Amino acid sequence: MENIIEFQNVSKSFGELKVLNNLNLQVKDGEKLALIGPSGSGKTTILRILMTLESIDDGFVLVNGENLWHEEKNGEIVTASEKHLHDMRDKIGMVFQQFNLFPHLTAIQNVQQPQILIKQRNKSEAKDKAESLFDLVGLGDKMDHYPHQLSGGQQQRVAIARALAMDPKIMLFDEITSALDPELVDEVLTVLHKLASDYETTILTVTHEMNFAREFADRVLFFDGGQIVESGLPSEIFSNPKEVRTKEFLKKFINNIN
Ligand SMILES: Nc1ncnc2c1ncn2[C@@H]1O[C@H](COP(=O)(O)OP(=O)(O)O)[C@@H](O)[C@H]1O
Ligand SMILES: [Mg+2]
Repeated sequence: MENIIEFQNVSKSFGELKVLNNLNLQVKDGEKLALIGPSGSGKTTILRILMTLESIDDGFVLVNGENLWHEEKNGEIVTASEKHLHDMRDKIGMVFQQFNLFPHLTAIQNVQQPQILIKQRNKSEAKDKAESLFDLVGLGDKMDHYPHQLSGGQQQRVAIARALAMDPKIMLFDEITSALDPELVDEVLTVLHKLASDYETTILTVTHEMNFAREFADRVLFFDGGQIVESGLPSEIFSNPKEVRTKEFLKKFINNIN
């Protein structure tokens, strides 16, 4: 399998604060990756760089084998222009899972409208697609509700359906359950599980739900100090972490780590 995402010696600072320090990261096409690590360690920054919301200071980011933040001009590698970034965003089909639904549209309209506007589907195609996605996220009976008539977990599942309707090659999830009441977390994670088993989409998820990461991910990355400290199968990372920093971090979540 080839790498769909590659960070090569990427550094990124905010003022004096070095958030990414020569980061090297490879994600295989179709891989389901869980990114764990302390708060403030730069996990969100990694996702924002991929979404082109945050630039890099050094190194290269490749998506689908193409430079995201650089382009070739007159035989030279230069910082990407707005146009290059725009073209790359179009090509990649990457979605950053966000919570905010349009409050004045019903659930199904929230999933239909971007398909019509962005994917140029006609109304009935968009509706068919939306209906099948509502089945997937288990909300077939809530399609005509407005967001304020749905629980937080249900809104989150509509947002996942909306993202999926764009047929993304890559999906990025940033702590999507952190704003939810504990009893609603499971229903959202169940949908992600289904996604992981039914879709070939590459998924990067930042999470504090260690049980979820263990079950969902093909691979877990522990990120700290601007670098990947340890990466491996969930069973390796959670049951037998090798690095001291990983052990210390996991102790807060899991009791039986020595
Ligand atoms: N736009 C920004 N300007 C200044 N500092 C930022 C900005 N974005 C993030 N940071 C800082 O960079 C560090 C890493 O942030 P973030 O990537 O959000 O970490 P995480 O998602 O792992 O909690 C934090 O200390 C944060 O305060
Ligand atoms: Mg974050």
